[in-house]
Amino acid sequence: MDKIKGKHILITGASGDIGRALAVQLHSSGAILYLSGRDSQRLTDVAATCAVPPERIFPADLRLSGSVKTMAEKVHKLTPQLDIIIHAAGIGIIKPLEQLTEEDLRTSMETNFYSFFHLMKEFLPPMKNSGKGLVINIPGVLGKTPMAGASVYAAAKYALNGFIKSVREELKRTEIRISEVFLGGVDSAFWDTIDMRVQRDKMIKPEDAARAIWYLCQQPSSGVVSELVLQPFNHQAI
Ligand SMILES: NC(=O)c1ccc[n+]([C@@H]2O[C@H](COP(=O)([O-])OP(=O)(O)OC[C@H]3O[C@@H](n4cnc5c(N)ncnc54)[C@H](OP(=O)(O)O)[C@@H]3O)[C@@H](O)[C@H]2O)c1
Repeated sequence: MDKIKGKHILITGASGDIGRALAVQLHSSGAILYLSGRDSQRLTDVAATCAVPPERIFPADLRLSGSVKTMAEKVHKLTPQLDIIIHAAGIGIIKPLEQLTEEDLRTSMETNFYSFFHLMKEFLPPMKNSGKGLVINIPGVLGKTPMAGASVYAAAKYALNGFIKSVREELKRTEIRISEVFLGGVDSAFWDTIDMRVQRDKMIKPEDAARAIWYLCQQPSSGVVSELVLQPFNHQAI
């Protein structure tokens, strides 16, 4: 097994429920964490739990290329390249087409897809220089299967899935591994603003979703888990 101890790992969405649970688990395994999110107070709270010093906390709006660039410059002053990037930032805009606005579409695309594009533009080149690394993103099951009400969310997550699979082709001559995590419903703050009847008590717990991602982080470099699917037992969409 590759060890997590001493690995430099960036978690985006670290102020969110899955990101926070991941930070706790990876910290327990001895990772050197870099935490990103928008809410500085929540990030500071997570950092305090995981003994992450202030210089490794990066409040940033990942929709904006300039914010990601600034974050990357700060990160690369601390380490020449990251070992692992886990993109756990995202937003759930889920409602029927007649209620959707153009602004919803823009926000969904920018948060769920453009953010990852910006991250790859800034963080992949140093990884390519070192020839190795692991990139994990979370399209979720709605990145490969449709759901009523999820049109703009699924559009962004399908885009993410297509983008990352194509980038993977470009990385074939490197040892940079890419893992996609197709999660079903996770009982997180993601659902707080979604007006839809769901059974949150039957969803995956954020800690269990995080454990699956933790598992990806310690895979031996001789192989790669290219896709991992984890769904609630009572709602298996794929
Ligand atoms: N929960 C589910 O059922 C589920 C299922 C499948 C896939 N996923 C995916 O899993 C990932 C994590 O979701 P979660 O369940 O942990 O949700 P969450 O608790 O709502 O966390 C979302 C995270 O994304 C961050 N974020 C949102 N917009 C951002 C922006 N513009 N710039 C930077 N960060 C931003 C939030 O930061 P702030 O709070 O600081 O703004 C927060 O840290 C998302 O990509 C989501 O699409 C979730």
